[in-house]
Amino acid sequence: MPPCGWLLLLSLAALTGNTFCAITTSQTERNCSISPPYLPSTVINTTLRLQELRKRMLPLNISAYIIPGTDAHLSEYIAPRDARLTFMTGFTGSAGTAVVTQTKATLWTDSRYWVQAERQMDCNWELEKDVSISSIAEWLISEVPAGGEIGFDPFLFSLETYENYDINLGSSNHSLTSVPVNLVDQVWTDRPPILADGIISLPDRVIRGSPTWQMKVEQMRKMMEDSPYRPTALLLSALDETAWLFNMRGNDIPFNPFFYSYTLLTLDEIWLFIHTERLTGELKEYLNASCAGPLCVQLKSYDSVRAQLQEYVARPGIKVWIGTEYTNYALYELITPVDKLMTSSYSPVLTTKAVKDETEQRILRDAHVRDAVAVIQLLMWLEKVVPQATVNFGGPNTRGFETISASGANAALAHYSPTNESSRKLTVDEMYLVDSGGQYLDGTTDITRTVHWGTPTEMQREAFTRVLQGNIEISRTIFPSGTRGANMEMLGRRALWEVGLNYGHGTGHGVGNYFGVHEWPVGFQTNNIPFTSGMFTSIEPGYYKDNDFGIRIEDIAVIVPKPTKYGNNYLTFDIVSLVPYDRKLIDTSLLSMQQIQWLNKYYETIRTLVGPELDRQGLKEEKDWMLKNTEPFVPSGSSASIWSS
Ligand SMILES: *[C@@H]1O[C@H](CO)[C@@H](O)[C@H](O)[C@H]1NC(C)=O
Ligand SMILES: *[C@@H]1O[C@H](CO)[C@@H](O)[C@H](O)[C@H]1NC(C)=O
Ligand SMILES: *[C@@H]1O[C@H](CO)[C@@H](O)[C@H](O)[C@H]1NC(C)=O
Ligand SMILES: *[C@@H]1O[C@H](CO)[C@@H](O)[C@H](O)[C@H]1NC(C)=O
Ligand SMILES: *[C@@H]1O[C@H](CO)[C@@H](O)[C@H](O)[C@H]1NC(C)=O
Ligand SMILES: *[C@@H]1O[C@H](CO)[C@@H](O)[C@H](O)[C@H]1NC(C)=O
Repeated sequence: MPPCGWLLLLSLAALTGNTFCAITTSQTERNCSISPPYLPSTVINTTLRLQELRKRMLPLNISAYIIPGTDAHLSEYIAPRDARLTFMTGFTGSAGTAVVTQTKATLWTDSRYWVQAERQMDCNWELEKDVSISSIAEWLISEVPAGGEIGFDPFLFSLETYENYDINLGSSNHSLTSVPVNLVDQVWTDRPPILADGIISLPDRVIRGSPTWQMKVEQMRKMMEDSPYRPTALLLSALDETAWLFNMRGNDIPFNPFFYSYTLLTLDEIWLFIHTERLTGELKEYLNASCAGPLCVQLKSYDSVRAQLQEYVARPGIKVWIGTEYTNYALYELITPVDKLMTSSYSPVLTTKAVKDETEQRILRDAHVRDAVAVIQLLMWLEKVVPQATVNFGGPNTRGFETISASGANAALAHYSPTNESSRKLTVDEMYLVDSGGQYLDGTTDITRTVHWGTPTEMQREAFTRVLQGNIEISRTIFPSGTRGANMEMLGRRALWEVGLNYGHGTGHGVGNYFGVHEWPVGFQTNNIPFTSGMFTSIEPGYYKDNDFGIRIEDIAVIVPKPTKYGNNYLTFDIVSLVPYDRKLIDTSLLSMQQIQWLNKYYETIRTLVGPELDRQGLKEEKDWMLKNTEPFVPSGSSASIWSS
């Protein structure tokens, strides 16, 4: 019988009559239908800030104001000072949109966050259990009088977001009004400041052999010159684009080594928009910032990007190249008329960055060897302490993202991270899923292992083995260069589909070199670019049984050339995450001979690469644990002797 996790209790409390659980529920969520309303202590009182915001909407004549959850660079993870949605609503989930009118305030979020929203919002806010822009537009049409204007901060809208609202508002006689000054910032008096420092250039010792920023600038200029559309400038908006171009990193966003910036790169000038006071003399020298030639970086204030772009666009004969996926509407809307604009989904920086050069590949592989040691230490320690007593596990160290550490029913929420209210004790009776990542100067890592310290059920073993078959089937696939991940991802699901199981998330994403842990545009989804040699991607099938347990196995792979009997230019995956899978959960009778061979070869690689690092760090017990867990598998039903040679 699984213990009382919060998700569990919603569905089971009534059935089990577990009064402890039932009381917990009524105390943690707001109840706005009683008088006075019941508000748990996790709620923020938003009355005053809403009043202030509404006051600022009046002189602008906007009847509604849209508050998205992203930042001006359309980042996946945002800095605390960009958490405007959280400031206004109290809700801290990572996905949502809020809309405020003079009389109403509503938050839209998806099913992962409904419970959390009920715990964090006061009764000024209504919850709409949807995230689609069409649902928001429908609400706007019914709440805003005809002819009314709907305000939004264009820095927080992508081009696609804008078009989506525009289409959905359609012929309703409501207009979208771009308000390029953020109204939430005006009422957020204790908004966290810009960090004073934290910007660095990557040390030579780490990136020796990789292109310098000057070489990257020349490379981008060459791509501009080679384009038949003859762009005169490239505008970089996503934070990892500027960081990549200049081989620089920052610390503005938790777990993501980025700094606030934009770049306008023309054929003979380089404009870097940044909080210039944050740059040391050394960095200015590194950027050759004291001159105005084609290889001098001209520093411009971060906040002047709109004004400067407008000035550039006013010049005759110019054409600005943007990647539409990451350029905000505030910059896009300035590039008119349309013949001054050139678009691609992703900028040439993003498509170039997706393919790691030899140095990047080498150091990213190295980072994974050190990360394997850390994960092996964690798994060995847990294996030792959990059976003795129960461990209350919060979350550790320098991470690539918030560690997803979940056991039992919590792991059934694919992206659960522990909080004080929902954390559970680890026990030998259930599965444990740890999805962790590290940021190393040479690479970003991301790995998931699922383990069981007691006796797994038959169903758990079968599900785990079928998930593992998905990892192996993708990993051992040989495919022509240029194949899209979307055309291969069913290999990750096939063994699960055979018995009517599935999972509700993507099968993998790109990963950076000391960058974002989810690095677009690489991956297995339809809007990802085709695979070529040198790309890194995660491979991460899973299976989640509601209210019971969750399984995910995630490895990072580099795409490498594969000689074939007849064809040229074929590729395959080479796994660089180097941690063995829980043997107890593997049912070898389900595995094919090829799958067992693949697994044994992978385990040999772990021994070859991680063994010496464990020796170097003097980790004897961990070495033994690794060796024990990488024993070759013997195909069930066949003689052991074939494998002992
Ligand atoms: C709020 O409290 C009332 C009275 O106790 C109860 O009937 C109702 O179900 C509660 N609503 C929610 C959303 O908990
Ligand atoms: C929220 O703050 C307002 C303004 O200070 C106050 O009038 C109101 O009573 C507070 N609401 C709750 C539920 O505490
Ligand atoms: C708002 O509407 C009023 C009345 O129609 C008008 O006088 C004023 O100029 C408008 N303000 C803005 C910022 O559009
Ligand atoms: C839109 O609404 C305004 C204000 O009510 C009205 O003056 C105008 O005629 C409407 N336009 C259309 C196309 O319905
Ligand atoms: C710095 O800029 C000057 C002037 O354009 C140029 O001659 C020089 O090569 C640049 N130095 C570096 C290291 O890029
Ligand atoms: C969680 O609990 C710990 C220990 O009781 C406490 O120090 C911490 O502030 C709590 N965190 C939150 C977000 O409530």
